[in-house]
Amino acid sequence: MVGTEFQLGMKILQFRKPLPAPAPYHFRNDPEGNGMQGFLSEERRGAVLRSLRTDAGTLTRDYLSAAREVLQELVAMPDLIQRLPLERKAGGYSRNLLAGNDAVSVWAIVWSEGSSTSIHDHHCSCCFGVVSGSVTETWYRAIDANRAVQTEEQERKPGYVACMLPSGPNIHRMRNFGPGDAISIHIYGFDHEVHASSIESEYTAVSG
Ligand SMILES: [Fe+2]
Repeated sequence: MVGTEFQLGMKILQFRKPLPAPAPYHFRNDPEGNGMQGFLSEERRGAVLRSLRTDAGTLTRDYLSAAREVLQELVAMPDLIQRLPLERKAGGYSRNLLAGNDAVSVWAIVWSEGSSTSIHDHHCSCCFGVVSGSVTETWYRAIDANRAVQTEEQERKPGYVACMLPSGPNIHRMRNFGPGDAISIHIYGFDHEVHASSIESEYTAVSG
């Protein structure tokens, strides 16, 4: 009978185990809104790292688009990020590790007004997004191993997300001209327990 077949079908559906839910990286789904106390919870860190899909390394298009997605999620929730107890360094910038494994590390950087990086390039892929304030990014072209000429400068505002590969061009400097602090999230393709930072070389600016 059709009815029996239907009932049998329903039973099969009922007994079929639901597929495990993917672990997307959604802070805003936190019902209590407190999953980010003390930086990220264990669960959140795991979700970030799984979302980054580093199985094939951190130089693939797949990885870069995953990193971009994670950053777009993060920069879309400035209130939550600003509530994190991030370290701040007067006159400088502070790096706060949010998540990391042997392939990748995720940092929140707080830029005090007037702070600046050196002119540098990276030994790994580098993706970042601006959460609040603004960060001015200046690009350079190396003329030898130690010196570089400025080529471009852009103010990066909240919501901005970018990715770069170590194959370059990736010589830049980040500065906060204010007003006030700025916060950005950075995802680097390095193990924070192996490398102190993402910086490969540093340069002195010269006029072209
Ligand atoms: Fe950089």
